[in-house]
Amino acid sequence: MTEMKGLILSGGKGTRMRPITHTAAKQLLPVANKPILFYGIEALISAGIKEIGIIISPETGEDVKKTVGDGSRWGIKISYILQAEPKGLAHAVKTGRDFLGDSPFVMYLGDNLIKDGVAPLVERFADGKADAFILLKEVANPSAFGVAQLNGNGRILCLEEKPKEPKSNLALVGVYLFNKHIHTAIDEIQPSKRGELEITDAIQRLIDTKHPVESHILNSWWLDTGKKDDMLEANRVVLDEMTEVSNNGNVDPSTRISGRVLVGKNTVLKDCTVRGPAVIGNDCILENSYVGPFTSIGDGARVSQAEIEHSILRENCKITDFNGRIVDSLIGVNVELTRSQAKPVAYRLMLGDDSKVEVV
Ligand code: DAU
Repeated sequence: MTEMKGLILSGGKGTRMRPITHTAAKQLLPVANKPILFYGIEALISAGIKEIGIIISPETGEDVKKTVGDGSRWGIKISYILQAEPKGLAHAVKTGRDFLGDSPFVMYLGDNLIKDGVAPLVERFADGKADAFILLKEVANPSAFGVAQLNGNGRILCLEEKPKEPKSNLALVGVYLFNKHIHTAIDEIQPSKRGELEITDAIQRLIDTKHPVESHILNSWWLDTGKKDDMLEANRVVLDEMTEVSNNGNVDPSTRISGRVLVGKNTVLKDCTVRGPAVIGNDCILENSYVGPFTSIGDGARVSQAEIEHSILRENCKITDFNGRIVDSLIGVNVELTRSQAKPVAYRLMLGDDSKVEVV
């Protein structure tokens, strides 16, 4: 078999994450201080893939390129493919046609995270006879996804994109394996009601034209990081599985750290309590504060007199003299948050990049 390639979709508009990603690509949002996109790239690399194409949009493509680079940091080759408009997942594959050639490939949605990597799936696909291989997962809200209906033997009967009345609770996970036959199927479908060329319809087309399509139901976690709560859940799950403990900062003796905590370079902790699992980035200064479990604090943060738990704070946030508690929150880059009252209260926040908030 020709060498398997990777196609990661990191275009689209990301409107669901506004205001957080008004200025940035949702795929670059950090989970445990690492961009979501990196998890996908690393999953493909672990499966032995050495050539990855990333679909980018005109709005956020430059940011993606700058953050990810040419792949040399992982010892692989990454190229970028500009999709002028977000006309659907199958349209993205069409846009990547020159890059893909006739190679089999893993298509990975840049805002998805799965626990179990893709190496076993790549092997299974390479050894099998299927022309497409899809991953499914039982979900509580199938209408928000592509949905598969299987027969008693686990054979796929049909696939539907975001059906109002789903025929099962099996959602299509954003990781697909294809060979060259998908290109013909894509050429034969029409845009959906939402005006997109759906990959779900292209796979249905393969089924209709008697191409073997196989599926596997995931038992481990899968997260589609489209919304704030999904991001917090992704952060929770990834931190929960983190096994490392490291302290590269400057932690004074009055600070107590317990559990699995990473403290980055040049970070100063004074009179703080940190309960892991948590990650604190480089060049931060935290004083007189509490950092609770499932919290990620980005590089360059300044935090004083605050309690933060189960939250993501992005780079260069300033939460100073706060006298309050922040929980279940997603706080964008460069946010400045102050509070003028001394009475302790708790907040649940979603603040976009560069916000300035004074709570009184
Ligand atoms: O997350 C799994 C779901 O992903 C599947 O269950 C659905 O069947 C599938 O259609 C897809 O649904 P979404 O509506 O969640 O897709 P979204 O628009 O969020 O796009 C997924 C990724 O692909 C995201 O990283 C943006 C990128 N993208 C999207 C479009 C529409 C592109 O690169 N180009 C595009 O044209």
